[in-house]
Amino acid sequence: MKNYRIALIKGDGIGPEIIDEAVKVLDAVASCEDFDFQYEELLMGGCAYDVTGDPLPQETINGSMNSDAVLFGAIGGEKWDNLPREKRPESGLLRFRKELGVYANLRPAVVYDELVNASSLKPEIVQGVDLMVVRELIGGIYFGEPKGRDENRGFNTMVYTRDEIVRIAHQAFKIAMTRSKRVCSIDKANVLDVSQLWRDVVTEVAAEYPEVELSHMYVDNAAMQLIRDPKQFDVMLTGNIFGDILSDEASMLSGSIGLLPSASVGSKIGVYEPIHGSAPDIAGQGIANPIATISSASMMLRYALNENDAADRIDAAIKQALVEGYRTQDLAQFDAKEICSTSEMGSIIANYAVKCTK
Ligand code: IPM
Ligand code: MG
Repeated sequence: MKNYRIALIKGDGIGPEIIDEAVKVLDAVASCEDFDFQYEELLMGGCAYDVTGDPLPQETINGSMNSDAVLFGAIGGEKWDNLPREKRPESGLLRFRKELGVYANLRPAVVYDELVNASSLKPEIVQGVDLMVVRELIGGIYFGEPKGRDENRGFNTMVYTRDEIVRIAHQAFKIAMTRSKRVCSIDKANVLDVSQLWRDVVTEVAAEYPEVELSHMYVDNAAMQLIRDPKQFDVMLTGNIFGDILSDEASMLSGSIGLLPSASVGSKIGVYEPIHGSAPDIAGQGIANPIATISSASMMLRYALNENDAADRIDAAIKQALVEGYRTQDLAQFDAKEICSTSEMGSIIANYAVKCTK
């Protein structure tokens, strides 16, 4: 029997609660498929800082590199907001992404029919939305040098090299080939030199994918179009900071940021995590929505482990739970038949995952 080694990084805030539910669901699907999981818990974020003085201990990097995939919850919280930048939980996460070389962050935004009323937009605008933000994750202004600040001046540098753009563009086009073959590349080429290079290189790479239709859009317009008519988009290819912002915006199409998963992939080990944060304000109350993390576990099965049947089971089970009217607090006002806790939602999805085939 196959045995997959999964690095579990629960992190801070609601991280532990939501990861526990994803593990419950993973174990449930493993029980009906021909594989098993072996988990190793590793520390990252504020909890790692508290124990070791470092938000990203070397052991976490090593353990992750020795795994088949990393399932990650969330990090951060007010408690650590006043630490020097390099000790902050967020710095740990950024270094982690860089160490693992996960340059492509895939953030699908899908609107479940059952939740069209949960979006802040009109149902006819969001019904049927199915898009994928492909965000460059280890370059751009998050990592550019020089950077710094003194009392009167702060600065960061947005820099992309040709190679960095080429590899993320290939990811986007490859993904588009499995979807409806449209890529919209988002930049600020009317103002930024780095964006003009981005646009030129993406256009060159596009020549290798003649079946894919490429368009370009300025990021301000894209932010507007995403709300005006989100169905015009299939794959949205963009740099680090624009992708950070647009993917939060896209999450609202689906009604709750607690629904959206992500995969961060590169040439080595992939990291699978919900797009939401650690939500310290609701931590420990059992009201967090575990669906984004469970859905990230499904992406892990699909992309890292090639266990598509198991991933289909999870996707179908999430859908079934929503169809049956089970809702966590965040979605309580939207056609709920039963309000459930974080752990109840995990158990419901785990049970359906065992019964569902596709
Ligand atoms: C995300 C988060 C992170 C980011 C933070 C926590 C560093 O917002 O994954 O989108 O900005 O990338
Ligand atoms: Mg973000």
